[in-house]
Amino acid sequence: MKLYLKIWRQKDAKSKGKIVDYTLDGVEGDMSFLEMLDILNEELVSKGEEPVEFDHDCREGICGTCSLQINGEPHGPDRMITTCQLHMRKFNDGDTIVIEPFRAKAFQVIKDLIVDRSSFERIQQAGGYISVNTSGNTVDANAIPIDKHAADMAMDAATCIGCGACVAACKNASAMLFTSAKVSQMALLPQGQIEATERVLGMVRQMDLEGFGNCTNTGACEVECPKGISLENIARMNREYMSASLKG
Ligand code: SF4
Ligand code: FES
Repeated sequence: MKLYLKIWRQKDAKSKGKIVDYTLDGVEGDMSFLEMLDILNEELVSKGEEPVEFDHDCREGICGTCSLQINGEPHGPDRMITTCQLHMRKFNDGDTIVIEPFRAKAFQVIKDLIVDRSSFERIQQAGGYISVNTSGNTVDANAIPIDKHAADMAMDAATCIGCGACVAACKNASAMLFTSAKVSQMALLPQGQIEATERVLGMVRQMDLEGFGNCTNTGACEVECPKGISLENIARMNREYMSASLKG
């Protein structure tokens, strides 16, 4: 198929970006979206032009780096997948595809389609961990009884890959879905109780410091999340935050 691509090009964080038009022929339905971009880049390089920079690593829906806004939707038109799992059969011959970086104040564009998502790492560092004794006398995790339902919910929350689609989908650029998943995966388990108060207060404080917006329960984040992270996690984080604030 032949595609008309409109791609955001931006030299660096300080430069002004713009949409540039490209025409790409010979795209197969079985190709992934990133393979389509690989072919475009091969053509650009063979013509002596700068390739389009985009983030990717695993190409298996695991690492969360392949974050692209495709025709206005994070990770494109399909559901429960990342950009690297999107196939070109979702598009038709002659389609125009607009490809942009994820847009949010806290996700500065570094180059072309690559944004700086280190704000997510700083939120994690503000409390997204547990402290355990690693001296050799550590209690085996399997020796601690955990309610099956709680374990399942914690595991569901832990599937968040930190891609940032929730932020890009939100009209407030809120990171509540991401942060609440990272809070919930600990809050639901006994191992997460000891640091629970500092965790939720620290992570929410860092989320605000990074410049993410607030949640107004629109639910766009849940719709666009490639891992199906539920809004229930936001409700849980709000409860955790309220109770931690009263203790603090
Ligand atoms: S909550 Fe979903 S959309 Fe947000 S960072 Fe995690 S996996 Fe990505
Ligand atoms: S490249 Fe790792 S999730 Fe897409």
